[in-house]
Amino acid sequence: MSALTELYHKIAGCQDCELAKYRNKVVPGEGPEDADLFLIGEAPGWHEDQQGRPFVGPAGQFLDQLLDSIGLRREEVYIANVIKCRPSQNRDPLPLEIQACRKWLDLQIEIIRPKVIVTLGRYSMARYFPHETISKVHGRARKFSDVICYPMYHPAAALHQGSLRRIIEADMLQIPQVLAQAERTAETIVQAQQLGLL
Ligand code: URA
Repeated sequence: MSALTELYHKIAGCQDCELAKYRNKVVPGEGPEDADLFLIGEAPGWHEDQQGRPFVGPAGQFLDQLLDSIGLRREEVYIANVIKCRPSQNRDPLPLEIQACRKWLDLQIEIIRPKVIVTLGRYSMARYFPHETISKVHGRARKFSDVICYPMYHPAAALHQGSLRRIIEADMLQIPQVLAQAERTAETIVQAQQLGLL
């Protein structure tokens, strides 16, 4: 069994917060184990809770269009959420729920080791930029020790606030450059290792 499949079984059995009682299906995330790009949303909504898959409702359709604009299909990227079960009435996730679920996202990132993490919305952004506001940092890549993080507005924001649509589309169009930068950095590290410099 692959490391990811094993992890999905564990997530499916999770009872570490109250949300487990009310979920229809857990939504662990999906995508290839060797994905370079890892997208992190907020929480499953009604559609996701029905299907057990991330971003399959209206926000997901927009996300698919955004990926298409840079020549990517959703099967080529990894997609997960900060929390794996739907909060009732789609309310915001609570700090306790985020805390209880954190280990699952940590493990997913550890297994996949993506080159670039794209945070979608405030909740996933807070993992990497806890003291920033999204209006200031969206569309600006920042390097952490072994990954580049790229914050974006949540695709659902464009559905509620039309003026954000163009901003989200423009931010998405920069992702190929961010990925190329991450690849160059990874190559430099391999070369330095081969030369015994690291
Ligand atoms: N919004 C999210 O943040 N995640 C989903 O999976 C769907 C909608």
